[in-house]
Amino acid sequence: MRKRLLAANWKMHKTPQQAADFVHAFLPLVKNTDNEVVLCPAALSVAATVEALKGSNIAVGCQNIHWEKDGAYTGEISAEMIVASGCTHVIIGHSERRQYFGETDERVNKKLKFALEAGLTPIVCVGELLEEHEAGIADDVLRRQCSIAFRSISGAKAAKLVMAYEPVWAIGTGKTATPHIAASAHETIRQEAADALGRDVADKMRILYGGSVKPENAASLLDEPEVDGALVGGASLDPQSFAAIVNCVK
Ligand code: 13P
Repeated sequence: MRKRLLAANWKMHKTPQQAADFVHAFLPLVKNTDNEVVLCPAALSVAATVEALKGSNIAVGCQNIHWEKDGAYTGEISAEMIVASGCTHVIIGHSERRQYFGETDERVNKKLKFALEAGLTPIVCVGELLEEHEAGIADDVLRRQCSIAFRSISGAKAAKLVMAYEPVWAIGTGKTATPHIAASAHETIRQEAADALGRDVADKMRILYGGSVKPENAASLLDEPEVDGALVGGASLDPQSFAAIVNCVK
């Protein structure tokens, strides 16, 4: 049985004070959950989030990582900085980074290696565009994204790897993949992981669904055995709404 993981991706929202306010409202609402919960604030709000979460078992993740140890990379954040700031998780390859910031499959692979090396739990996002979905080539896209992401990564190193299936047509659009679509995409991702990293790693690997997850649809998605959790954008900005998602699965 894979432990459920509910992750909040706050994207470019919440100042340090707003992040701390969220945590103070959120913690009492999720005190009985056995699920793994992680909040991913913007980098400048990580410190305030870590501080506010002290004493709880909720983790903090960064939304990006650079693929070199250090160096002249203005504006970037290294694995060492992420770990030192108290983060345990990192999102890699989000479609918004692919779309607006030139993130390629090859970069995702480099970033993934660094994150694993640093002992972080990477949440690697894959997912097809609307055109690709409509053309019926979603599976090919997922297979390509996964096989490049997993290149030269050993099964032994990949134990912490988490994947997130985020169909781009479902992100921030109010359209959600049906549990059936999500399950079938997750099976494709798990098969790619089995081929590259070994069956054992693949069977234990959590695959999250992301894309317009809301309190109203979370239970039906998370009921699907292939869906091991959710990566939530808009609905994670409000403590009540994210708590409702966290609490909809036991
Ligand atoms: P929404 O939940 O706002 O659709 O965002 C999903 C997402 O991109 C999470 O990473």
